[in-house]
Amino acid sequence: MYQLMLETEAPVLVKWSELYSVGIQHIDEEHKKLLDLLNELWRSMMEGKGRDHIGRTLEGLIQYTLTHFETEEVLMREHAYPGYEAHRQQHEKLTAQVRTMQAQYLGGHGTSARELMLFMQGWIVRHIVASDKKYAPYLQGAGGD
Ligand SMILES: [Fe+2]
Ligand SMILES: [Fe+2]
Repeated sequence: MYQLMLETEAPVLVKWSELYSVGIQHIDEEHKKLLDLLNELWRSMMEGKGRDHIGRTLEGLIQYTLTHFETEEVLMREHAYPGYEAHRQQHEKLTAQVRTMQAQYLGGHGTSARELMLFMQGWIVRHIVASDKKYAPYLQGAGGD
């Protein structure tokens, strides 16, 4: 039911909200770009693109996610953020899960593009709100902001 509504009515999968802001401009920009890439994947699916096209779009999203994790981890190390190790492990776990799902999708068994996309969307938004926001007070003013 929920998925059907998403499929037929939502113009985009996920919209940026100020609630997602961590108060560090260049991190917010990266998060916005992540949501843009999720929406691009969403559009590819809505337009009925094939596995090749969706696979490439998905890989672009995953690559950018890894780049973004690196940005955060470098900043957290520079500022000796006490929650660094736990946070890094969350990034690592997501990466492993997504790579497994991606392989299943590309292999044509186990995971659909929609499942993968909704999983990433849910994870990214929850992670920003529950975890990324926690490092903000330690990193504020960092990274040329
Ligand atoms: Fe993040
Ligand atoms: Fe993070």
